[in-house]
Amino acid sequence: MNEITIIGAGAAGLFCAGILGQQGRNVTVIDNGKRVGRKILMSGGGKCNFTNMTVSAENYISANPHFCKSALSRYTQWDFLDLVSQYNIAWHERDHGQLFCDHSAQDIVNMLVQECQKGQIKFQLQTQFESLQATDTGFQITTDKGTIFSQKVIVATGGLSMPALGMTPLAYQVAQSLNIAVEPVRAGLVPFTLQKPLLDKLIPLSGTAISVLVTSEQGNSFKENLLFTHRGLSGPVILQISNYWQPGEAITINLLPDTDLNAFLINQHSSHPNQSLKNTLARLLPKRLVEVLIEHEQFPDLPLKQLTAAQKNHIVAKLTQWQIQPNGTEGYRTAEVTLGGISTDCLSSKTMASKDYPNLYFIGEVVDVAGWLGGYNFQWAWSSAFACANGIITS
Ligand code: FDA
Repeated sequence: MNEITIIGAGAAGLFCAGILGQQGRNVTVIDNGKRVGRKILMSGGGKCNFTNMTVSAENYISANPHFCKSALSRYTQWDFLDLVSQYNIAWHERDHGQLFCDHSAQDIVNMLVQECQKGQIKFQLQTQFESLQATDTGFQITTDKGTIFSQKVIVATGGLSMPALGMTPLAYQVAQSLNIAVEPVRAGLVPFTLQKPLLDKLIPLSGTAISVLVTSEQGNSFKENLLFTHRGLSGPVILQISNYWQPGEAITINLLPDTDLNAFLINQHSSHPNQSLKNTLARLLPKRLVEVLIEHEQFPDLPLKQLTAAQKNHIVAKLTQWQIQPNGTEGYRTAEVTLGGISTDCLSSKTMASKDYPNLYFIGEVVDVAGWLGGYNFQWAWSSAFACANGIITS
């Protein structure tokens, strides 16, 4: 009989194992991969955006927006940064307070593995977790390599993004079989696809990035880069807003968030009255985008002096509130996170333990807490793992 079994050797599972091992706990970690921390290695373009300078509950999406507060406050970004510093891992800050490794995401995985090596952690890799049953003394875990009995089980199997890595919905199925509720899951931090004919018109812009402000129908806004792709729209601003988008909804794009477009048009009118609308707007936006907008929004491509005040107002309104209805998202294949998951109603926010099964814990992305782009998902993995380990140590 194992004392503690952690299912999933990703960010949350490894971090939790290290803390428990160092407290003398007997921990077995099982994972279906050949290596540990595979998503960490892929993250942040290989540099792992491991946390953020400002972290609060507002950076997370959950059916209960207050649930994450306790764990985030008891293991903060500064605590993780202290650990990173102890291992002399060089890091740097990018826009919006995002912290990345200078060298490689491998530094973070090495650190987590070394933390585990300070204790008695047994790794059982290439082992597929299949199901879980409660017993009188703990749990029976069924895997493709046999049955494991354990007093305590920590489920840290992450979300469904990157199915090629072997991500599975088994944790959700197991929870439901134990009457633990699961909030509906969907891909988050994910590019949008667009429908023809708009897509065909925008395809020549593939690879072009512009800084925009995007607003969801619920009023959530982000100002960052938008990238045109051969499938639709991507870039940080689109990934962020995708967390707040539901199928059928439109997004509103301010294409010129840093320009007073009215003032610009007045100025251009007086200095270049014969300049066409297309050439005027091409001073601010990629020419191909201007052509698409003129066609799609039926702007009159006249010399500025011939545009009426009403036409100018219409152009300003459209460029600052361009409405697009995405066809869908690229789904889990390219998503960075899974929204939804194990319902926080069924968990203790202090220890991540199931309210009905006190020796069963859920940590990391498998829980219905998903973060913005910017290191927030890893911070949730660290904070929820710490809450769980601390709950076990102090119980
Ligand atoms: P994680 O997914 O890390 O680990 C789960 C583990 O469980 C995996 O090793 C998996 O193989 C294993 N597993 C699953 N099902 C199993 C089963 N049935 N049996 C056995 N094992 C099983 N976040 C961030 O904050 N900054 C960033 O820079 C990035 N970048 C990024 C890039 C890309 C491409 C992706 C896909 C995601 C990110 N993220 C991110 C998100 C971040 O990677 C993610 O939120 C955390 O890794 C979640 O940590 P967990 O430990 O919960 O799951």
